[in-house]
Amino acid sequence: MVADDVRRERVGGEVVDAARGRTGGLSLLGASRGSEVPEEREPGPLADIRDYETADEPSWLRCRVLGLLGTSHHDVWQVRHRTDLELVAAGDNVVIGLLDVSVPGAEAVIDAVAVHPDHQRRGLASALLEQALRRLERCGVRTLEAWVQDDPALAWFERLGFVETERHLRVHASAAEVGTVLSAKHGLEPVGAVLDVRIERETEMRQRFERVHVRRRVIRRIRP
Ligand SMILES: CC(C)(COP(=O)(O)OP(=O)(O)OC[C@H]1O[C@@H](n2cnc3c(N)ncnc32)[C@H](O)[C@@H]1OP(=O)(O)O)[C@@H](O)C(=O)NCCC(=O)NCCS
Repeated sequence: MVADDVRRERVGGEVVDAARGRTGGLSLLGASRGSEVPEEREPGPLADIRDYETADEPSWLRCRVLGLLGTSHHDVWQVRHRTDLELVAAGDNVVIGLLDVSVPGAEAVIDAVAVHPDHQRRGLASALLEQALRRLERCGVRTLEAWVQDDPALAWFERLGFVETERHLRVHASAAEVGTVLSAKHGLEPVGAVLDVRIERETEMRQRFERVHVRRRVIRRIRP
């Protein structure tokens, strides 16, 4: 389905494209770049909120890596994983914010949200989320959830109306640590492991392992 109607709105001081299909069926996809109505812009918008494009990949990856600097996420994606809803905040066509959402059914999950450190606390992630919520709501999605480890991200989710529903520990065991709890068969040697553990065992896990994070599931209802 081709979404062909683009509303331009101001959200948090930025210009945001909200795409809406006219055919009755609704899609997570926004308007294609080609169908964007050339309108006069407000002076100095921080970024366009729009769909991810293949040409964004290098700056998307840079934004994700830089956005995660200083957080507990040490994983660096060398390639992009495609998902159902992919939004970017682009300034001069360079990605400075991103939001990926998996939509397997009525319960959607945030796969990635990150804003370039030079552009944080300017409403970009909030504008990305607003756009995503609008599209998810139109597609009949009931809830949006995420897993959070870092306090600043948790503060952002709570500010945006997400509530915590459960938590557990995530342990990243090093090569030296993993041998104390795991043994592999068939001549394999574990060189590290990622393990989930009940929250009640936090004190014990922190004594045993260097890298232990509290992982919280947060959820926001979109439709009743
Ligand atoms: C979390 C993140 C995406 C927020 O992006 P952002 O564009 O800076 O957020 P916004 O400007 O929309 O923030 C809106 C509100 O959220 C809260 N908030 C955002 N960042 C915060 C922080 N570092 N500390 C405390 N509250 C914060 C504040 O209430 C803020 O409003 P204020 O600036 O008027 O106080 C960004 O900090 C980031 O990329 N973090 C690293 C990546 C990450 O941890 N992702 C989550 C993985 S689950």
